Amino acid sequence: MFLGYNESMVSGLTDSFGRVHRYLRVSLTDQCNFRCRYCMPEHGINWLPSHDLLTDEEVLRMIRIFGGLGINKVRFTGGEPTLRPNLETLIAESKSIPGIEVVALTTNGSTLKCKAEDYRRAGLDIINISLDSLQQGTFRDITLRDQLKNVLAGIEETLQAGFQEVKVNVVVMRGVNESEILHFVQLTKDWPFTVRFIEFMPFVGNKWSQASLMPYSEIRSEIEAKHDLIPLHNSPSSVGKDFCIPGYAGKIGFVTSMTETFCGDCDRVRLTADGAIKPCLFSPAEVNVRALLREGADEETIVEKIEEAIQRKPREHKPMIHLSTIQERSMIQIGG
Ligand code: 5AD
Ligand code: SF4
Repeated sequence: MFLGYNESMVSGLTDSFGRVHRYLRVSLTDQCNFRCRYCMPEHGINWLPSHDLLTDEEVLRMIRIFGGLGINKVRFTGGEPTLRPNLETLIAESKSIPGIEVVALTTNGSTLKCKAEDYRRAGLDIINISLDSLQQGTFRDITLRDQLKNVLAGIEETLQAGFQEVKVNVVVMRGVNESEILHFVQLTKDWPFTVRFIEFMPFVGNKWSQASLMPYSEIRSEIEAKHDLIPLHNSPSSVGKDFCIPGYAGKIGFVTSMTETFCGDCDRVRLTADGAIKPCLFSPAEVNVRALLREGADEETIVEKIEEAIQRKPREHKPMIHLSTIQERSMIQIGG
């Protein structure tokens, strides 16, 4: 019987290197209506059968347990999380869980034109939208979908809905969209969102090569040749480095996963759509709790499994260059 008290409730979920975990990323599905080539192998993946996905009740039970362990921020990811029926309910229910202060979403933006307002009303605080090109042909080549206009309309709708924070994620790939960096920067002149340039990471079957990686230093120099980038305060556990340009409404950010890693202050833990607790994006160490949830395991047993997973978290991941050989799941199966 779980008596409602656990060491971790006081100290937070702490790993063997003393890092306290506050941020839970929950993948709601491995499916996606886009086919971004940097995220999925060209030959596709074997989708999870639907009975392997955690149900809404199971997802909420896990968030409740994590909330009791000191998690205060939840992000829904996928695949594409907006494909999940009842997303609004999941957002609203999560927001009402004691301890959960912030609920965020990472999406490809395809549903925002119709749904941004509903997500906001449900209590969503933060939205990250993937947008890798402002040119119709390049957008189509990257995502294999002709949806640029829809996604842009979705971003506009999101800004009007009054979110605390909107980020536009751009994975920079040399020879694909690198010529658009300054166009993206220009968007922030009038639009109050953060454009985040993300270093291209190698995953199984995503055709990454050293040559296709455009390092942060190079993206930043290109922008600084034209603009003053003023550094903003970033929390130590943040994966991004944010800047502003004087007189611009938005901000510029960089996610330097390849050239400057940020393991030291990592406060993130993941729950995959099939119920695995994954303490590190880049480590195969995971503990699956789905069977336990379905056998009616009590809270104490689930807490033990969460702690076991956190204890397996490595101090840091292997050099990123080996990522495609050490990571057995594609990004779409983990949820970024
Ligand atoms: N490299 C960098 N970021 C990636 N994402 C997916 N695949 C990659 C990759 N290979 C991130 C992008 C996208 C989110 C869903 O996951 O930021 O917006
Ligand atoms: Fe889908 Fe996002 Fe992956 Fe693109 S990056 S295939 S939109 S999950």
